[in-house]
Amino acid sequence: MELYLYIIFHFITTIKLGVETTRAEYLLCFHLCAENLLVLTVATKQTEGFQRFRRSAQFFNYKVQVLGLDEEWQGGDDQQPAGGGQKVRLLKSALKQYVDKEDLIILFVESYDVLFASGPTELLKKFKQAKSKVVFSAENYIYPDRKLEAKYPRVRDGKRFLGSGGFIGYAPNLKKLVEEWKGQDNDSDQLFYTSIFLDPEKRESINISLDHRSRIFQNLNGALDEIVLKFENSQVRARNLLYDTLPVVIHGNGPTKVSGLSQNKSYDGILCDEALPMILIGIFIEQPTPFLSQFFLRLRNLHYPKQRIQLFIHNHVSEVDSFVEEHGKEYLTVKVIGPEDEMENAEARNLGMDLCRKDPDCDYYFSLDAEVVLKNTETLRILIEQNKLVIAPLVSRHEKLWSNFWGALSPDGYYARSEDYVDIVQRRRIGLWNVPYISSVYMVKAKALHLELDQGDLFHSGKLDADMAFCHNVRNQGVFMYLTNRHQFGHILSLENYQTSHLHNDLWQIFSNPEDWREKYIHENYTAALKGKLIEMPCPDVYWFPIFTDTACDELVEEMEHYGQWSTGDNTDSRIQGGYENVPTIDIHMNQIGFEREWYKFLLDYIAPITEKLYPGYYTKFELAFVVRYKPDEQPSLMPHHDASTFTINIALNRVGIDYEGGGCRFLRYNCSIRAPRKGWTLMHPGRLTHYHEGLPTTKGTRYIAVSFLDP
Ligand SMILES: *[C@@H]1O[C@H](CO)[C@@H](O)[C@H](O)[C@H]1NC(C)=O
Ligand SMILES: *[C@@H]1O[C@H](CO)[C@@H](O)[C@H](O)[C@H]1NC(C)=O
Ligand SMILES: *[C@@H]1O[C@H](CO)[C@@H](O)[C@H](O)[C@H]1NC(C)=O
Ligand SMILES: *[C@@H]1O[C@H](CO)[C@@H](O)[C@H](O)[C@H]1NC(C)=O
Ligand SMILES: *[C@@H]1O[C@H](CO)[C@@H](O)[C@H](O)[C@H]1NC(C)=O
Repeated sequence: MELYLYIIFHFITTIKLGVETTRAEYLLCFHLCAENLLVLTVATKQTEGFQRFRRSAQFFNYKVQVLGLDEEWQGGDDQQPAGGGQKVRLLKSALKQYVDKEDLIILFVESYDVLFASGPTELLKKFKQAKSKVVFSAENYIYPDRKLEAKYPRVRDGKRFLGSGGFIGYAPNLKKLVEEWKGQDNDSDQLFYTSIFLDPEKRESINISLDHRSRIFQNLNGALDEIVLKFENSQVRARNLLYDTLPVVIHGNGPTKVSGLSQNKSYDGILCDEALPMILIGIFIEQPTPFLSQFFLRLRNLHYPKQRIQLFIHNHVSEVDSFVEEHGKEYLTVKVIGPEDEMENAEARNLGMDLCRKDPDCDYYFSLDAEVVLKNTETLRILIEQNKLVIAPLVSRHEKLWSNFWGALSPDGYYARSEDYVDIVQRRRIGLWNVPYISSVYMVKAKALHLELDQGDLFHSGKLDADMAFCHNVRNQGVFMYLTNRHQFGHILSLENYQTSHLHNDLWQIFSNPEDWREKYIHENYTAALKGKLIEMPCPDVYWFPIFTDTACDELVEEMEHYGQWSTGDNTDSRIQGGYENVPTIDIHMNQIGFEREWYKFLLDYIAPITEKLYPGYYTKFELAFVVRYKPDEQPSLMPHHDASTFTINIALNRVGIDYEGGGCRFLRYNCSIRAPRKGWTLMHPGRLTHYHEGLPTTKGTRYIAVSFLDP
């Protein structure tokens, strides 16, 4: 039954509107959709602006009739206050065909600089709510005749003056409205409608009101500050902050050319991602920084069209090269300043900002230091939405009070803790905060770079460092810096103790930046293993679970090969004399590459929790840890042996069938073999007694495993 009604309703709607409506549209508006709505517009030429208007109308399924196409334009220059009479003539003549349509609602709008931000349902609903037969758009400015101001009804709230660029009403009322038109094509339509509105008798009989609070019409002339972009699902919508409304018809009248909603492209932005504001991202790698590959991965994952992003990167390190090579082309532009340019920090920051300042298409400058771990992929959109000249997202060190803002200043301009600092960092108080100092990551509106912050050298000031100089200069210009902690954005890496003497320095970061270490090196399904899921038992009492990412495996192998001093496996090896290792292998021990402390921390943080679950009652201690290399012509296999351990973990570091063939492990007592070890997965098995085992021969390539003896 419901389906039947639905189909009939669809049928009626389709006939009445003469267009296909979207399903959501007519489900939402049972009685409204059945009404007639027609959009009338004037376009003497099919300009790009007109085509944009038509695209937006099609997108929302408006029925549009275009008046005056290919007629010569006589209505004067649109930039002039007078003119526009031709539009009234065309409307008057078009309305003749709708005289008997009592219920027809007609929206009359211009087309070259108009866009729809929403569909007919919302438009009709808002029109109904206005409780007038005709509703005109409203403006902050009176024109063309300022002397008329005294005659305008006063309004308590909202825009007071009539704007002729858009109005909506019932056909009979509109007919009455334009009935008396006898003007020339070059007379002013604005003046004509104004004089009708200002005549109390006509206003009442035609029943005209103004859309004072921009519920339907948003004229942008003189009203840009009222408007912010609001991101919703995949769409962007303009929101009027002053009246808290979401206008349906956006009219870019007047000389509107400021950032954000300014140029015609931004109106398009209401409909599609491709025309969002353009952002120049300045990336600063000013000191040795761990986890740069993750940094660039997160940069790529930011939810923002790359064709609306320009990159400026200061200080060229190897990760920059590979990023630019692989992904540079996806961005609008990329500019890299390398060490050979010998540009210091403040100078580079000035340059990055200046690139945005000098580019008329740049809408926002976003400064991002490499130690910022920006996990929130919506950050750019969230910051734009806040509509501030200068704004930073809160980032702090993991579980520390160190952050990228100060709550207060000392009398001499240095750090002072504010009473609410801790609450803000820990997000016990949430909001948008006006603060005296920000650093590491922030967004600046290009508009501010052209006005308040137009001096080229913002990053110098006396002896202050670049960040402090910037904030000092911004404060001096009377520009407020905001910090938002309304969302979680990410954190800041600790750069202390970053050793750069290894091939893969990040491996050593398990103490300084444990969260980031985990993200880079610990298998994504380790958490499931920890919960007891995903743990397999390929042989009796032999457990098997994921532990390392591919990157962890690769870097560990490369680090070992880089060190290169593999033990020869003869009996002079001191470790074997010590009696730990029952059978000599070709190996390198973790302590030989200075990785012992870090490896033990890894075992303690990631292996011990599982061991204690699977073999309860054992307190985990560690003794030996080394990487073993098997090669057909070196050491292909290992004869049956007991390990000098209570338990052994054995992590496969490369891939069978690709990196090597053969290999695996066999437990003799059970005649049970694991022939296809998975890269990044570890075996955990008793070392002695029941689990006498052998390493099966590697027949081709090179196989690597990381072995640790537990509870010797
Ligand atoms: C859009 O704006 C640009 C410059 O802002 C201008 O050159 C172009 O003519 C405009 N296009 C339309 C269709 O209005
Ligand atoms: C309007 O056009 C008429 C003739 O077409 C001309 O005489 C008159 O000066 C024009 N008025 C304005 C305000 O341009
Ligand atoms: C329009 O008509 C409604 C009743 O239909 C009335 O409440 C309202 O005041 C009228 N508005 C004007 C401007 O005359
Ligand atoms: C993690 O487990 C899921 C579900 O079993 C699987 O689809 C995914 O590929 C696993 N991830 C990795 C890196 O193996
Ligand atoms: C061990 O298992 C293999 C097959 O997996 C079988 O061929 C072999 O005979 C078994 N050996 C013993 C001693 O049971």
